[in-house]
Amino acid sequence: MSRVLHRSGAIPPVAVGGEGIYLHLADGRKIIDGSGGAAVACLGHGNQRIAAAIGKQAATMAYAHTGTFISEPAEALAHIVLDGEPGGLTHAYFCSSGSEGTEAALKLARQYFVEIGQPRRTHFIARRQSYHGNTLGALAAGGNMMRRALYEPILSPAFSLVSPCFAYRYKKADETEGQYVERLGEELEAEFRRLGPETVIAFIAEPVVGATTGCVAALPGYFRRVREICDRHGALLILDEVMCGMGRTGTMHAWEQEGIAPDLQVVAKGLGSGYQPIGGVLIAGKVVQAVNAGSRGGFMHGHTYQAHPVACAAALEVQRIIREDNLLENVRAMGARLESALIERFGNHRHVGDVRGRSLFWALEFVADRATKRVFDPQLKMNERVKRAALARGLAIYPMGGTIDGKHGDHVIVAPPYIASAADIDTIVDRLGAAVDAALAE
Ligand SMILES: Cc1ncc(COP(=O)(O)O)c(C=O)c1O
Repeated sequence: MSRVLHRSGAIPPVAVGGEGIYLHLADGRKIIDGSGGAAVACLGHGNQRIAAAIGKQAATMAYAHTGTFISEPAEALAHIVLDGEPGGLTHAYFCSSGSEGTEAALKLARQYFVEIGQPRRTHFIARRQSYHGNTLGALAAGGNMMRRALYEPILSPAFSLVSPCFAYRYKKADETEGQYVERLGEELEAEFRRLGPETVIAFIAEPVVGATTGCVAALPGYFRRVREICDRHGALLILDEVMCGMGRTGTMHAWEQEGIAPDLQVVAKGLGSGYQPIGGVLIAGKVVQAVNAGSRGGFMHGHTYQAHPVACAAALEVQRIIREDNLLENVRAMGARLESALIERFGNHRHVGDVRGRSLFWALEFVADRATKRVFDPQLKMNERVKRAALARGLAIYPMGGTIDGKHGDHVIVAPPYIASAADIDTIVDRLGAAVDAALAE
């Protein structure tokens, strides 16, 4: 009997080991980890270099409180991640998860405005069908209606939600992409006006929406329009790259493909590849200066395990490997292969309405009817069925329901590790194809 509280009632299989793209189960099966969990294990499993770095740090200096000391791994990690000050991001705050990263970004943004003499800024604008974490602040910032529903009465009213940029579902048939982007810009502009532009702290969004809608990238020009609106109203732009960042979409930061940069960027999953729990915020110089020179003598926030030396040592090794082995090149090459294989296999599939994503971050959205985009009855839990059918064929993927509004719609995500080979990609798509057909045949 398991005494660990699981997400669902059923007890899942026990994972006992792993090597490369494979996870090993207690019953002897070897499963291809086709999504690295939730796009986490970007370097695959059983990497001995990372394990050695963790062991060495744990044996040398496992913990020193950041109120009194700094540590070498945290400093080195900040340096490697911020090398060249990408987009004007000069400092990093490390914590233990994506949710903690979001909380820190929200609080940094609020403190920034207090320190520069604009304390009336108390609102955040976010988007429906987004996700920024499960702690109460991050949950309030997110628009994942399924995850919010139960807690709605205790979520902060400081957050309001506008429409996502989700062309497959929400671009009107008689609208060009440019007109759709303009309509979304108008809606954001109207929300600033409704709140009073001088009261808005920041707009927060995922550059490529992750689990909630399934790898939805914005249309060209959308983030340039968002950046321009934020700048005009003196608000900050927070980008949540917890899932889509750290190389997953072919560039180190997803925003590099949008022609803009954020003021605050939340990172996690790919930062440490799951070898240790680690997240963080990358911070623009102007925010750091204001907070450090301000009334509180620094950032008024903290966690016992922030910038944990062992977690930072693990992430440092992950980041060194990505750079030394030129893995972003492989991400782009294997991403192109994954894209064409998925389109070939599912592009005309009668129950796959959309195949979308970037590089090694792809989703299939399932529909009962392709022409009308009608969804399956949520009771069927189609995404779960595909997940089970895939697992039975030796492939782990990441499923989610409520694609459209938190209730309706089904999708699954594939997010192979950056070390995947061409043969691995082909096997993943083969198994996924068989799983989708088997789940539909049920
Ligand atoms: C975009 C995004 N932001 C934030 C989070 C929260 O991260 P964590 O689960 O590590 O707290 C997630 C997790 O899935 C995510 O995908």
